[in-house]
Amino acid sequence: MCGIVGYWGAANPKDVILSGLKTLEYRGYDSAGVAILHQGQVKRMRASGKLSRLADKLAEEEFDGHLGIGHTRWATHGVPSERNAHPHTVDGLSIVHNGIIENYADIRGQLVREGVKLESETDSELIAHLISRELQETKDLEKAVLNIIPRLEGAYSVLVMWENEPESLVAFKYGPPLLVGLGEKEAVVASDIQAIIPYTNKVIYLEDNEVASIHKNQCQLFTDRGEKIEREVTTVDWSSAQVEKQGYEHFMLKEIFEQPRAVAAAIEPHIDLQKQTVSFADIGLGDSQKMIEPLKKIERIFVVACGTSYYAGMVGEYLFEKLAKIPVEIDVASEFRYREPVIPKNSMVIVISQSGETADTLAVLRQVRKQGALVVSICNVKGSTIDREANAHLYMNAGTEIGVASTKAFTATLALLNIFAIYMARIREELPEAEERKLIDQLLAVPSQMESVLAYDRFFRQAAESLKDYNGFLYLGRGVNFPIAMEGALKLKELAYMHAEGYAAGEMKHGPLALIDEKMAVVVIAPKDDVYEKTVSNLEEARARGGQIISIGTAKDSQLAKISVHHLSLPKAEWTCHPILSVIPVQLLAYHVARALEHDVDQPRNLAKSVTVE
Ligand code: M6R
Repeated sequence: MCGIVGYWGAANPKDVILSGLKTLEYRGYDSAGVAILHQGQVKRMRASGKLSRLADKLAEEEFDGHLGIGHTRWATHGVPSERNAHPHTVDGLSIVHNGIIENYADIRGQLVREGVKLESETDSELIAHLISRELQETKDLEKAVLNIIPRLEGAYSVLVMWENEPESLVAFKYGPPLLVGLGEKEAVVASDIQAIIPYTNKVIYLEDNEVASIHKNQCQLFTDRGEKIEREVTTVDWSSAQVEKQGYEHFMLKEIFEQPRAVAAAIEPHIDLQKQTVSFADIGLGDSQKMIEPLKKIERIFVVACGTSYYAGMVGEYLFEKLAKIPVEIDVASEFRYREPVIPKNSMVIVISQSGETADTLAVLRQVRKQGALVVSICNVKGSTIDREANAHLYMNAGTEIGVASTKAFTATLALLNIFAIYMARIREELPEAEERKLIDQLLAVPSQMESVLAYDRFFRQAAESLKDYNGFLYLGRGVNFPIAMEGALKLKELAYMHAEGYAAGEMKHGPLALIDEKMAVVVIAPKDDVYEKTVSNLEEARARGGQIISIGTAKDSQLAKISVHHLSLPKAEWTCHPILSVIPVQLLAYHVARALEHDVDQPRNLAKSVTVE
């Protein structure tokens, strides 16, 4: 969480840093600030609240230096306020920090005993004091940083500038991501590629326990013990256009509408269109022949993720068990990692993360790799830590997702899980060729089916005015649509801040039925499948108690329409593909209700997109 940008170069650092922070604001928006050289000294400006408040403050400000750093904050230690905003500056030395210093109380106690006056409640300010005190001895920024790193425990990516070294930036990290972009005559350091790509596509990814010493547009890497490291510069293939709204009112709406393309981009690289079969090129396990052996041996699958990625993983559980007949265990990363999981021999762990940086998911990956599991990552951000550290890599290919509420990464993941499960089923001889072709055929039809479901945007735009008046929402589904009920409830909670729960439809009568009255909306996903009649019975039970049914069914379904206040019909689809379609209405519902409530859809309160703290 928190976004960091630093710049050295001929352009105006204020403009580069502000536009970089804009692209990183999804990481946190409690406060923002910059420290930029002006007349040889650090000039710091900060503002509580969103970046626009800082931009207003900076509008009339001039800076004549070539060097600066900036920060957008998701508060951990200390309330969101200007006093706690970054950068933290001590005697001409400024730092910005993303992460949490866990031994903060010890360091703070020691500094206070030594007479240091602290101006904020943050853990980050302590880093500035530690470095500044070292500078009194070393007079060398790089050395001062190297000397204090052993004092820090926790997670951190830190960027430092000092007015006595006006052509240098020093960056170091353990945990949250940090990248150094090296242009022709400039250097940009940032938490995320989006802030760098308008200037250069040549980047160095910092690894944990590394220090980058940047002088002008040259970068030397060191270990945290000061040993030089050589690292090749990576050329990335992102484009700036991906991070613009392109006429949509919000990034989230744009991303909802990009889903057909995202699903196609996720599966196309792995489908042999002629044969209509799944074929993986080297995903990290050797060529298409070699990878069969290790995957054939898999006897158990674990799927681990957080939030929306976890719900995508839940769909995977049904896919792998039903198609490939492999037992699957699924858990949220923050629970899995602490329950001393038993990972039997021949286990595969699938970790799912849009950002590829979620701290708990990353911790699981490291833990299970030590336990000998084969780890397959499903990430959107290529080169992210989770992607780099997994044994094998699948990519969502959804393009940059800016809205804090995840949408297109979810559907792209469902599509990938589909083909991965089909592939596993084939190599284990659980899926006849004709059946594989049928499933692929259905999957290839999904992007255009999604286009037709997106037409419900108009419906929710109008219905949102009345939907926003319900006291709460209960989302129900069965089988592969149960995770969609969970995801629908999460979307509404995070965007509309309303009470919403996702339930397996059959569980209703075991408690949640007590919640039902005429102020409760019951959103149900009920395709015509083998449990359809049972789901309809569950709905009748809710309706009898005043529940207002909003049903998402298949094609013409007069039975469902009759018992619903609103009825939406989806195109007929194979069970494997249905969740990719049924999630769209619940995304649109949450989006439009939040919009009707005049909430900030792209940046819901208290949240951040990339959760790099535990
Ligand atoms: O980047 P990740 O997929 O690892 O993120 C996991 C969750 O933090 C994320 O899905 C979160 O739940 C979203 N806000 C949901 O919309």
